[in-house]
Amino acid sequence: MTISSAASPAPARRSRLLHRNLREDPPVAAGGHGVWLVDAQGREVLDGSGGAAVSCLGHGHPRVLAALASQAQKLAYAHTSFYTTEVAEALADDLVGHEPGGLAAAYLVCGGSEAIETALKLARQYFLEIGQPQRARIIARRQSYHGNTLGALAAGGHGGRRKAFAPLLADAFSHVTPAYAYREQRAGESERDFVARLAAELEAEFQRLGPDTVAAFIAEPVVGGTTGCVPAPEGYFPAMRVVCERHGALLILDEVMCGMGRTGTLHAWEQEGVVPDIQTIAKGLGGGYGAIGATLASGKIVEALRNGSGALMHGHTYMAHPLGCAAALAVQRVIREDGLLERVRSLGQLLEKRLIERFGNHHHVGDVRGRGLFYGIEIVADRASKAPFDPALKMHARIKRAALERGLACYPAGGTVDGVNGDHVLLAPPYICTPRDIEMIVERVGEAVDAAVKDVTH
Ligand SMILES: Cc1ncc(COP(=O)(O)O)c(C=O)c1O
Repeated sequence: MTISSAASPAPARRSRLLHRNLREDPPVAAGGHGVWLVDAQGREVLDGSGGAAVSCLGHGHPRVLAALASQAQKLAYAHTSFYTTEVAEALADDLVGHEPGGLAAAYLVCGGSEAIETALKLARQYFLEIGQPQRARIIARRQSYHGNTLGALAAGGHGGRRKAFAPLLADAFSHVTPAYAYREQRAGESERDFVARLAAELEAEFQRLGPDTVAAFIAEPVVGGTTGCVPAPEGYFPAMRVVCERHGALLILDEVMCGMGRTGTLHAWEQEGVVPDIQTIAKGLGGGYGAIGATLASGKIVEALRNGSGALMHGHTYMAHPLGCAAALAVQRVIREDGLLERVRSLGQLLEKRLIERFGNHHHVGDVRGRGLFYGIEIVADRASKAPFDPALKMHARIKRAALERGLACYPAGGTVDGVNGDHVLLAPPYICTPRDIEMIVERVGEAVDAAVKDVTH
């Protein structure tokens, strides 16, 4: 039997990549310049979130590209069990040579989750080195995100992301209430009383576990992807620090998303009145020009290892990768040489002002919050009661689609309230954007929210 080719059109080509969404292939990002992403059809989209708060210098930055090309010509790879490299040493010097907050050494990895795994192991090993092997518990917070590898996922407190893998997650982790004022601060409760209640809860958690079994408390200074740019209330981190110090536990600050200038200071903790014992950074470190993250450790931790076993019990094949290091070093130099932290602060004020003008009285936006060029708006079905939309409506996905149709890439997500309910939109424009770009971002996200709401309410 012959089959007519005219009668059977060729099936649509199916991608061999396992995409996040297996029902729908994403558009192809073919290029980028400045704050613009360009798809395969040549359509330009304003990058209002740098992906997930990654592209802090936008796309195609000439000085970063030159540094990458030069490093690739010189040396692309050398295994860290045989060699160090000039570029990795230079990056470590750049990050901790001046010992910010007492952070004295950097462990260089390939992203945020690896940085978190390193931080957790480092905390554990520190206590082994100083003769406190019973310390094996980590206290984290609900509605936090620390990554998708199993240790990082166990530390995270997002019910929706943990659920399928719960049987694989270690029970060394427990979770306390997040410093999420819009949802957790009670009616009539002052900010001070809210902070005092959260400190009392952390203290109670130490007591429940046995205070000398806790190795560390881990938190994001400004919570990113799970709740949408939520800074802590005034005095929160110093209060948590007091509880940790009372019981001899370490403070790990996860700045994978909110660090490296995103909130207007190089480190978000600079605005909190505390310094961490261990810090993780990633996205704004390399700005997307290299796959790189880092775990920064205080002098006391490094000394304990140096004087003890003499080695960190950890390692990855691609750690301290020269190309990632070259990207990060160039990005950090550009941020410094071009005065971009100052720019983040001033553009951040404009972003906040415009978001409040646009959404301050919007019936379906309950909260506008953030810091620097890191802002979130929380979408609600009803502003007065703060009731979220039915999660089945997937408001976050509708807003993302509506924004893309209007030429804006932003970063909406669901599960904001409790891991299942709630929606927010995260904005994290590149530090190189202009006031005009900020106006366009707010205009387009405003139209996208209105269009998505109209879709489900009419
Ligand atoms: C605060 C925080 N920690 C850790 C991670 C994990 O980083 P990665 O996706 O690079 O593994 C993320 C990623 O979004 C993050 O936002």
